[in-house]
Parts: sequence; structure tokens; C-alpha cells
Amino acid sequence: MLYRSLLFFALANAVFAHAGKSKDSAPTSAKIVPLTQDYYPPTADCWEYRVPVHLASVEVTSFAFPEWTDDYQLQDFLATATTRASADFPSVVTGMENLTDVEYIISASFCTPKNTTSRKKSIILATHGIGLPRSHWNSAYEPEKYNFVQYAINQGYSVWFYDRLGTGKSDKVSGFTNQLRLQKAILVELASIVKSGAYNGDFGKPDKLAVMGFSFGSFITHFAVAENPGIADAAILTGINYNTTGLNANGLVRSFVPRIASLQSPARFGDLDPGYVTWVDRITYINTYFKYPNYDVPATSYSEANKAAFAIAEFLTITDGTFDASGFTGAALAITGETDYIICDGECQGIFEEPARTVWKNAKFTPYLHPGASHNFNFHHNATGAYGVITNFLDANGL
Ligand SMILES: *[C@@H]1O[C@H](CO)[C@@H](O)[C@H](O)[C@H]1NC(C)=O
Ligand SMILES: *[C@@H]1O[C@H](CO)[C@@H](O)[C@H](O)[C@H]1NC(C)=O
Ligand SMILES: *[C@@H]1O[C@H](CO)[C@@H](O)[C@H](O)[C@H]1NC(C)=O
Ligand SMILES: *[C@@H]1O[C@H](CO)[C@@H](O)[C@H](O)[C@H]1NC(C)=O
Repeated sequence: MLYRSLLFFALANAVFAHAGKSKDSAPTSAKIVPLTQDYYPPTADCWEYRVPVHLASVEVTSFAFPEWTDDYQLQDFLATATTRASADFPSVVTGMENLTDVEYIISASFCTPKNTTSRKKSIILATHGIGLPRSHWNSAYEPEKYNFVQYAINQGYSVWFYDRLGTGKSDKVSGFTNQLRLQKAILVELASIVKSGAYNGDFGKPDKLAVMGFSFGSFITHFAVAENPGIADAAILTGINYNTTGLNANGLVRSFVPRIASLQSPARFGDLDPGYVTWVDRITYINTYFKYPNYDVPATSYSEANKAAFAIAEFLTITDGTFDASGFTGAALAITGETDYIICDGECQGIFEEPARTVWKNAKFTPYLHPGASHNFNFHHNATGAYGVITNFLDANGL
């Protein structure tokens, strides 16, 4: 596969051995819940749900992490995983295993324009990345500038957005096992659930479905569509790039400066095991996700204050899937900030079109570099400029 080696194998070479975690079980009740999010667009009707997602069988990667309990041990693991001699150490990957008959409760929001619009029957199903949970799309801070849902609603689209497994109000599983393959299987189920109309308020079934991601969520979305081309009419990948030249895996690990989330903030992350980590502070976040001076500090502070932690096993499985999306013949948009630090090592020009066009060779594919932004363009100046590129793309492709 094109570049599945990167983070996955670069970082999977690490020492130690330890028994794997047992699987977490999930509750089974599900219902419409009172609105929990800090904000909803005034022009939308919105509902919240706890959606039971049942997976009959999902093949996942099994790991043997050292299962650190403090930041000294975590730092030593990361230093070892990124040393120039990392290839000398045994991999933390121990093989594959099947999870069968598992169920997770996913907390989600659905918003549709109050006004009748011609585009209203198109739903965008959005999967957030590492950082904010579903509020990545639905900022309570200056929503007229930073809220994708509000922008899309005002353009006539409906949006279904959720907290990924392990974040926000969705079920939690161990950070030593929570990974891309599991969340890809969840997204494939969610696409089918959204199309069924069962969790769409009084909206019913959509005519068209677009799947959208940000960063880790874009890789989940990419692999879900590449491996199941029938799940959506369009794919929108934000904060993605397909050329390995742009991915500096060791540099990224060191730039993130991960800390055990539950130790950094027991109040926010105390329910998560030490497999969940987060960057050390707001400046570190800004360095990896933003381009100076094209942001307002309060917007980054909002984003930092509301961040979710991420699972170490997520970080190691970002590229664990099939890149070849030649089976998909719908419309696809890849969009990121021109100076994306995470996925382009700070400069996307020259590496953004290939292999992207080859990966999406049978799709109506649009690569787009948004000026004046790094990875998290949703919280930069001119975020609405990028939102406009996204809704224009949908409109131009009949959604
Ligand atoms: C998981 O199940 C599939 C389908 O039954 C099978 O092909 C695959 O070999 C199994 N994987 C493992 C690791 O057992
Ligand atoms: C909704 O419809 C009303 C009445 O036609 C109109 O004034 C308003 O601008 C519309 N709102 C949006 C977001 O399109
Ligand atoms: C990545 O970009 C470089 C620079 O444009 C190019 O030479 C290379 O072929 C690209 N890689 C792939 C796999 O297309
Ligand atoms: C805002 O974003 C749009 C879409 O990328 C772009 O066309 C426009 O030039 C940007 N405006 C500024 C001032 O950068």
C-alpha cells in the first residue's frame, strides 16, 4: 500500500512486552438525549442521540505496550520508539485479532436547516480528529467565524456529527487498544444508520450522503470509503495529505510532547486510562496545528480548553488501511492549510497532488490548498473561506 509504513511502522518498533488489555464492554441502552453541546446554530433544528453501534466482527491490530503509569515511563517509551536504533527493538504490534459481537454507544448530534432548502436532503456525516471532539465542527466560540455546522446549515446542508469512540460523551475503551480499524468499522455502520433515517429527527432518509473527516478522522473516512465505496456519494477529507514526503513521524512525536491525559487534568480526563495522552500545553498545540500569525489566541484557547485526549494506539494506526480508493466513483475533496505542519511538514505545495490523484483515480477528485493556514484551518482566520470551498464542492457535484 502506498505509504502505510509511516507512523505505523516507524513508531511500532519499540521495546517491552506486556499482556494486552481485556476488551471493555459497553452499555446497551440508547435514546434521544437532552441537548448537551454548548451551542447550536439558531438557524437549525438539532437533536442529540446515543446511538448503539453493533459490530458483528472487526479485525484489529493487537499491541503489547509497556502500559506506562507516569510521564517518565511514557517519555522513555516515546524516546525509544523514535530513536535512530528503533528498528533494533521488537515491535509493539503482536498481530491481529477479531473482536466479535461488540457494541459501543456513540453520542451524536444531527442538525438540519429550519428553512426548507433544495440541498437539505444531503447530509454531511462528520468525523473529528485529534483535538476537539464533535465541537470541532460546531464551535461555541464566535460561531459566525469558526462553526462549520452553522456555515453548512446556512448553505442549506444538514450535518450529522459525533464524538469518536473514546472522546466526548461516547463510550470509552482502553487507549492501549482504541485504534483506527475499530473506528473505521464504526463509521461504516454510522453511514448505514444515517442513511436509514433512524437517528435523523423528523428528517427521514437523506437523498445523498457525504462523509467528511478532519485529520485522524480523515484517515478513518478515507479507509472507510476506499474499502467500502458504496457508503457515500461524496468524501471530504480535511487536514489530509497522501504524500509521505510530508510526514515527519519522529518530528511529530517530539513536537506533540505527549503527556498522560489523566495526570494532566484529572477533572477532564480522569475516566481515561494512561493509554490516553495529550500535548503538554497550548503553545505546543499552536505549534503543531496553527500558522502564526493567522489565528486569534482566544480561538486557540477555546479549542485547547475543550480538547479530547487521544489514544496512543490511534496515533500508531493513523495509516493502517487501504489507500487505493479506485473503487470509488463519486466526488472527493482533499483540503488542508497550505502550510500544514502535521501532514505536509509545514509546506504542502509540490506534494499535495500526487499520489492523491492516483489514489482517487476514478473519483471526481479535487485537491485544494487553503491559503494562510496550517492543519486546523477550522480555527484560523478565514475559516469560512475554507467552509465555502467545501460547500461549493458539494454543490458542484450535485449534493
Ligand atoms: C478474522 O475473521 C475473518 C473472517 O472470519 C478471518 O478471515 C480472519 O482470518 C480472522 N482474523 C484473525 C486474526 O483471526
Ligand atoms: C429562512 O427563511 C426566512 C423567510 O423566508 C428568511 O428570511 C431567512 O433569511 C432564511 N434563513 C436562511 C438561513 O436561509
Ligand atoms: C510526492 O511528491 C514528490 C514531489 O512532488 C514526488 O516526486 C513524488 O513522486 C510524490 N510521491 C508519490 C508517491 O506520488
Ligand atoms: C479565504 O479563503 C478562500 C478559500 O481558500 C480564498 O480563496 C481566499 O483567498 C482567502 N482569503 C484570504 C484573505 O486569504
